[in-house]
Amino acid sequence: MINLTRRLRHRLPPSLLPTPILNRALSAPITPTPKPKPEVPVARHTEPKPQRRSGAGDVGREAVAFDGGVVPGLTPTMARFTLGGKVAVVTGGARGLGWNMSQALAEAGAQAIALIDVKQDLGDAAAAELHSTAGIPVRFYRVDVRDAKAVADAVAQITSDLGSVDIVINSAGVVDSNIKAETYDAAMFRNLLDVNLTGSFLVSQACARHMITARAGGSIIFLSSIAGSRVLHPQQQCAYNASKAAVAQLAKSLAAEWAPHSIRVNTIAPGYMDTALNREALLEGQKKHWSAMTPMGRLGRPDELNGLAVFLASDASGFVTGAEILADGGYAVY
Ligand SMILES: NC(=O)c1ccc[n+]([C@@H]2O[C@H](COP(=O)([O-])OP(=O)(O)OC[C@H]3O[C@@H](n4cnc5c(N)ncnc54)[C@H](O)[C@@H]3O)[C@@H](O)[C@H]2O)c1
Repeated sequence: MINLTRRLRHRLPPSLLPTPILNRALSAPITPTPKPKPEVPVARHTEPKPQRRSGAGDVGREAVAFDGGVVPGLTPTMARFTLGGKVAVVTGGARGLGWNMSQALAEAGAQAIALIDVKQDLGDAAAAELHSTAGIPVRFYRVDVRDAKAVADAVAQITSDLGSVDIVINSAGVVDSNIKAETYDAAMFRNLLDVNLTGSFLVSQACARHMITARAGGSIIFLSSIAGSRVLHPQQQCAYNASKAAVAQLAKSLAAEWAPHSIRVNTIAPGYMDTALNREALLEGQKKHWSAMTPMGRLGRPDELNGLAVFLASDASGFVTGAEILADGGYAVY
C-alpha cells in the first residue's frame, strides 16, 4: 500500500516541517501541579481580549435570529431539523467550536442556551452577544467541568433558569502538544484526561439525570477528534490522543445505557480546525503540513461543524445514537 503520509512529508519544504514544542494546556488544574521543564522553548496561548465575537476571529459573522413563523411552511423533512422548544447546554461555549455551535443551535430555533466555560469575560460577552443577535435567553455559567459538585449545581441552576435541558454539547477541552511521552508530567497527563474525558462525563451525567427525571429524552453530543483513532503527527500528544479515543468509547457506552430513556448520545470527530486553539505564530509551519495531509487542502473553518451539530441535536437524527461522525476534510481517508 502506498504510504501517502510519508510521501507527503518528503515533498514538504523544511519551512513547513514541525515547529518547536507547543504546550497549550488552556486551563489550570484544580490544585496547582508542577510543570515539566520543556526541552525547547514553549509557546503559550495568550488569552484573547474579551470583545464581540464578530471581531474575535473565531468566525466573522453574528448569529441571525430564527423566525419561528416559517416552521408551519416547512416540509416535514426540513421541520425535523429545527430545535423549537429545546434548551441547550454547551460547554466550552465561550469561544471556538462551542461558540460556533451555540450560534447554530440558536439559528435553528433553540428556545434557550446555557454556555459553560471557565473564561468569565469571554463567556459573559458571548452570552450577551448571542442573546442580542438571536433574541433568545442565553446565560453564561462559569464552571470548571472537572468539578463534579459545581457541574451538578450549575445544571440544577440552568434547569431552574431556562427549563429542562434537551441538548448537551461537550466542547470544553484542552490540548498539550509536542510533548514527548517519556517526558510527560504525570499531573499534566491526569489533568488533560480530567478535562477532556471526566469533564465531558460529569456534564453529561448531570444533564442526563435531569433528562431521565423529566422523561423527555434528549441529545448529548461529544467532541472527540481524528486524534482518537489516528496518531497525529508530527506533534507528540499521547495524552490528547488517548483522551479522545476514550471520549468516543464513553459516548458509545452512554448511548447504550441511556437509549431506554430516549437519550441519544453521539460524537463529532473533527479534523484540524482553524480555531484560536491552533492560531499560534509558531504553528504556521505545522498548519501547512496539516493542510497538506488533508485531502481538502485546508483546516476546517470554526463554523464547519455547525450543520452536523444541528443534525445530531435535532429530530432529524432521531435513529442515530452511538455514532462517531468525522468532519475532517477527508483527513482519515489516508
Ligand atoms: N480545534 C481543533 O482543531 C479541534 C480538532 C478536533 C477536536 N477538537 C476539540 O473540540 C473541542 C473545542 O475545541 P476548540 O478548538 O473550540 O478549542 P478552544 O480552546 O477554542 O475552546 C475550548 C473552550 O473550552 C474551555 N475550557 C477548557 N477547559 C475547561 C474546563 N476545565 N472547564 C470548562 N471549560 C473549559 C476553554 O476555556 C475554551 O473556551 C475540544 O474538545 C477540542 O479537543 C478541536
